[in-house]
Parts: sequence; structure tokens; C-alpha cells
Amino acid sequence: MEVAWWKEAVVYQVYWRSFFDTDGDGYGDLRGVTQKLDYIASLGVDVIWLNPCYASPDVDNGYDISDYRAVMPKAGTMEDLEQLFREAQARGLKVIMDLVVNHTSDRHAWFADSKANGAKRDWYIWRDGKEGGPPTNWRSYFAPSTWTWCEERKQYYFHSFAKEQPDLNWENPQVREAIYAMMRFWVDKGIDGFRMDVINLIKKREFTDVADPFEMSYLANQPGIHDFLQEMNREVGLDRLFTVGEIPFVGPEDGLLYVGEDRGELHTLFHFEVADDMTTMDLPRFKQIQQRWFDALYPKGVASQFLNNHDHTRQVTRFGSEKFRVESAKLLGLMLHTLPGIPYIYQGEEIGMTGMRFDRAEDYPDVAFRNRYKERIENGEAPEMVLSSMQLLARDNSRTPVQWDASRNAGFSAGQPWIPVNPNYEEINVEAAEDDADSVLHFYRKLTAMRKEHPVMVYGTYRDLAPNDPYLYVYERTLDDTTWRIVLNIRDEETESVHCPDGECMISNYPDSCATILQPYEARLYML
Ligand code: GLC
Repeated sequence: MEVAWWKEAVVYQVYWRSFFDTDGDGYGDLRGVTQKLDYIASLGVDVIWLNPCYASPDVDNGYDISDYRAVMPKAGTMEDLEQLFREAQARGLKVIMDLVVNHTSDRHAWFADSKANGAKRDWYIWRDGKEGGPPTNWRSYFAPSTWTWCEERKQYYFHSFAKEQPDLNWENPQVREAIYAMMRFWVDKGIDGFRMDVINLIKKREFTDVADPFEMSYLANQPGIHDFLQEMNREVGLDRLFTVGEIPFVGPEDGLLYVGEDRGELHTLFHFEVADDMTTMDLPRFKQIQQRWFDALYPKGVASQFLNNHDHTRQVTRFGSEKFRVESAKLLGLMLHTLPGIPYIYQGEEIGMTGMRFDRAEDYPDVAFRNRYKERIENGEAPEMVLSSMQLLARDNSRTPVQWDASRNAGFSAGQPWIPVNPNYEEINVEAAEDDADSVLHFYRKLTAMRKEHPVMVYGTYRDLAPNDPYLYVYERTLDDTTWRIVLNIRDEETESVHCPDGECMISNYPDSCATILQPYEARLYML
């Protein structure tokens, strides 16, 4: 596999609104990120992915942008952002920005003009209705339909997400040129790349009814998508940067078309086979996913590994165990950093933060949650049932503020946090983790340091030694004459293993690992 700096990188995701608040308005802000850069650098990560901080009415937490060249006041000012770039750079950290160009906010000036049939009338997707209803039976991610009626224009407009997020018409060359110019504006400011929001949705298929509107893959991955991405790459010069595409509804073979080294498109991608398919850890399935992606991509492409982010419940709660919180957080960390691909740490993961559940539907600020909840209640489902079925995977579970210390509001904000702080902050916080030599935090620092030292973690091949074992995950990474074996016991009971070799145990999450019995959530890494 060809050597490249970004393959060796570890990415740290900063969801700034929940990171650190410096002005007491209850929202984290860009100055807060800058203030904590020493902490971020101390984690041994290389790249910061900053969630959207562009001007936005904030219906979908910044994923509804009303001006791509301005900063949302809640986050701060353009000067704050430029200072963040400079100070990150001074610490050797790269910064990538979220790029949200499948849709804008309905309050973007472009949409206002389009609605009014102005010069930008074809910048969005407009259609007449059909038999007194919307043009197709398609479902959007966040609302029942992908179509909303616009009285002003007497037509429907298309939105893959909420009605406040109209999709841009990428068939229009003026739209594409405006987006590329905007991307160059940010590159000129010195950013190092983009995390591209639902980027494989920008190409639409023909607008005709589908047999099963709930099987929503018709929204993504349509023929012609690669022409758009190749054009974008050429026009913005993306090869010299770092790009990761958020690519839903894609399996490994199609995945390679986005990230193959000879494709001139993206560097790497997030796929959703884990995040969308599993409510809890289904280990045999997880192993199949890893194997299929490795086989399809290696050595021509690299996947991105994540188990949680701002859209997905925290990994300890979802795939590990709150009872064995520290053990399972370390196990999942060890796994993420030793599987093939680029590891992403979502803020707070490095201290083993857990997912939060709210007791009442009104407590969930997320537009996706609210819209889906409302639809199900209107369809006659019982509120308690709807709430309990939506609680585990609600996006807000992972959006609670970073727990810095045991003081009020976990040291996140002097004001009223926009979303409640997890009450377990008195026990789980950065300060406590710094003071505890056995903390998840120090374990994560070891993992990132190992990646710098051992190319096998980046470039090694991958071999699953026990694909059918329901509890043990045993795999080897090999590069030249180095072979590492990772042995993970993914359950809350002891497991006997025949896979523990005589080699040197380089890192584990239990003090005295005995050779053949693995403790609950025990994780070991051997050099053979
Ligand atoms: C992506 C983002 C998510 C957002 C959606 C629409 O999935 O990660 O937070 O709501 O795109 O932009």
C-alpha cells in the first residue's frame, strides 16, 4: 500500500457546540476549541474535524447553512475561526471542515431567489405535484416526504432531510461552480480538507415512484455521482488536501469507486454498515463487515473507522457495557485503532463518556427525533412505545457536553447548557481521568502513540482468525516480518481462548492478564 500522511493520521471530531463554552451562552464555541487545543494535541491526534460552524438558523445543528462564507454567531466570529486555524497549525494539528453541499438552509439567499423565480430559479429541485399530491412517494430522512409545497412558487421543492434543508440542483453548472468557489475560499484560508456531508446524495435519480419508500437507498449513490466528485476534485484540487466522504447506502465494491487511489475522488469514506445495522454489538456480523471492506479496499483504498459520532449513540453504551465501562471503552478503543483504516475519536470518547437517555420526548432537541416522533404519534402509535423505541439510538444521546471536571455543568459552561449534561460527570470527567494512571484517557494516548511508532497498524494486512466466534474477536495485522495479534473478549463474562500466543503482550486493559482465560471485555495486543 502506498504511504501517505493521512493514512497514518488519527482524527479527533470536535462537535463545538458541546465542547467548551467560553462566553456563558450555554453553547460551546470556537474560542473554547482554541483554549483546549493543548488538550487535543496531548491526545496524540493529527487532524481535527470541526462540525459545521457556518451561518445557520440551526434547525439541524448547523447542517442547514444560510451563508457558507460566514460564521454562526453562537460559534463565534470569522476572526475566532482564523485564530483556531492558526493555533492548531502551530501545534501541528490539521483542521478539516464539514462541507454540507447536498442542501442549504431554506433561509439561504439562493433559496429565496429560487422561490421567487429569480435568476437562481433552477438552483434547487422544483416539480409540479401529481394528482393533487407530491411528485413522488419518496421519504426523506427527517420528515415524512421529500417534497414540500411552496405557495410562493406554486410548486414542490425537494429535500432529502428536513423541509428547512432544500437540496441543491447539482445538474446546474452554476450551482457546482458556486460550490467549488466556496470550497476554494476555505482552502485559501488554510484549512486542510473536508468531511463531506452525505456527499453521495448530490446526484439524484429520476423522480418516479418507488415500490418501497422506506428502503431509502434511492436517495443515494446514483449513476453520475462519480463525474461530480471527479469534477469537484479537479476544480478544487482536492488531492493535496484530505477528504472523507460520508457515504450512506454503500457496500465495499461501490465504496472503492469513491476512494480507490486511481479514481481522483476522495481519500477515504464513512460507510454505515455498522452504524445503521446494529443496535448492539453483533460480533459475527461486525467481523463480516470488516472482512468484506478490507478485501474490497486493500491496498487501493482506505476506510474510516468509527463507532460513534454526533449522530450515533456513544460506543460504550451501544457496543460495550456501562457496567464494565472502563474495560469496554478500552477494548473498543484498542479495536478501533488496530482495525485497518483511519480511527476517528469523537470528543469525550477518550474518557469513556456514556450515552444519555432523556425521559421525555420534549427533552430531545434534535429535529430528526422530533419529526419522526411526531409522525409516529400522528399515525396512532402509543407515546411511551414510540419514546422507548427511539431512545437507544437517538442522536442527542451523544451530543451532551464534554465532561471536563466535577464542577457545575461539568466545567463545560457557566451558563445553562443547550442540552443537559450527563449526571455521571462527577465520576466521568477529564480531570479525574488525567489523575488516574489506568484511565481510558491514558490508554487512548498509548494507542495514538503506538500508531506513530508501528506502521503495521496502518499498512498491515488483516486476517480474522475466528470469524464465527460469537464473543472472541481475534485478528492479525501483518507488515513485512511484523505480525500483531489482537484478542478481544467482547462480552461481560470470562471466556477461555486458544488464541493467546506466547508472544509479547504489548498492551492490555487488565493488570495481570492470564494466558488462556480472558476477563469480561478483556483486550490484548500481542507482537508475535
Ligand atoms: C449528516 C450529518 C447529520 C446531518 C445530516 C444532514 O448525516 O452527520 O448530523 O443531520 O447529514 O445534513
